[in-house]
Amino acid sequence: MDKRSVRDLDASGKRVFVRVDFNVPLKDGQVTDDTRIRAAIPTIRYLMDQGARVILASHLGRPDGKVQDGLRLRPVAERLSALLRVNVSCTGDALGQGTEDAVRRLKPGEVLLLENLRFHPEEEKNDPGFAKALASYADVYVNDAFGTAHRAHASTYGIAQILPAYAGFLMEKEIAYLSRLVEDPERPYAAIIGGAKVSDKIKVLVHLLEKVDVLIVGGGMANTFLLAQGKAVGKSLAEPDRVEDAQRIMAAAEEAGVKLILPVDVMIAKEVTQGSEYKTLSTEKLPASWHIVDVGKASLAVMAAALEGAKTIFWNGPLGVFEIPAFSTGTKAMANLLAEMAEHGATVVVGGGDSVAAVTQQGLASKMTHISTGGGASLELLEGRTLPGIAILPDRDLAGAAGSAS
Ligand code: 3PG
Repeated sequence: MDKRSVRDLDASGKRVFVRVDFNVPLKDGQVTDDTRIRAAIPTIRYLMDQGARVILASHLGRPDGKVQDGLRLRPVAERLSALLRVNVSCTGDALGQGTEDAVRRLKPGEVLLLENLRFHPEEEKNDPGFAKALASYADVYVNDAFGTAHRAHASTYGIAQILPAYAGFLMEKEIAYLSRLVEDPERPYAAIIGGAKVSDKIKVLVHLLEKVDVLIVGGGMANTFLLAQGKAVGKSLAEPDRVEDAQRIMAAAEEAGVKLILPVDVMIAKEVTQGSEYKTLSTEKLPASWHIVDVGKASLAVMAAALEGAKTIFWNGPLGVFEIPAFSTGTKAMANLLAEMAEHGATVVVGGGDSVAAVTQQGLASKMTHISTGGGASLELLEGRTLPGIAILPDRDLAGAAGSAS
């Protein structure tokens, strides 16, 4: 995939509509993790330096087509202003006279952020009229919202059918790293998949089995695999209706010669709360009334041994109930191990909110080869699916023809 990118664009003086993914966590009106905002800065800064008039647009959360004050983008505009060291104002609505005037007033090098696109139901419906209204603000379109590339919405798809479209630097980088994992990973290739539910990740597990040499499963979803092994998981989160899927995946791994690693010991707690009593036990003898909350030391040792010598590693999803500090040991240990492996030359790609948060909180993000800003998007790409937000962007070798498409 070699998409036409901002590098191919002379943006000087142009009005550039940039779709970003500023769907970031907020608490008490403050951005608590600005990874996605920082990741879009190279594209924004590049366009500003070229003298473009930059119109940024994003969704935040899932307001279902209605205005929700808690999902306004103002805190994001404040964070972005601090990072860029220029004032970025946020409109009160993505549409309307006030917004049109604000766009018209933009000077070369200035940046404006539109209000949450999903306050309009037409955004998620990829409504042609809404896409046209957004397109009317600009001369060209840049998509830097890799995290939303799996959605065919007005701002990720429809608008790219109207304006000449380009990938931003972040989009370009995400495509480069993730498509290498799909197409040509250096071997041995290992994937570590955690998180709460197997049902969310069955397709990616099945697809990964065709690609990887080692597949490590952790987090809540491993409990369903333990059930599939005939083990008891007490009161732990598990999906009994997915046991057959887990068994199929185990059989497919064996047939494909993929080393499938499951926890051999786990930390269990009386309650899934900070301060609850906890201990570590083998998965062979779990008491009925306790909850599995993390992997144990023996599991981590087995996982580390399986990862030894791996040249490429993809990690998505925590190994335990990471948001509760007492149960974050396994996830943190994995983050440390992968940072070390990356420092010794392995290609380590981390995607998905909680695993990225684990890496970031420990100050290890810069040590990894690539931190993906896409959770669902990166998994869908690894499932081998075509992401509409990427597919609609013209390839670089078609640049001449597509450049005059508007
Ligand atoms: C994400 O956080 O994965 C993206 O911003 C997409 O959000 P969505 O799942 O609400 O479409």
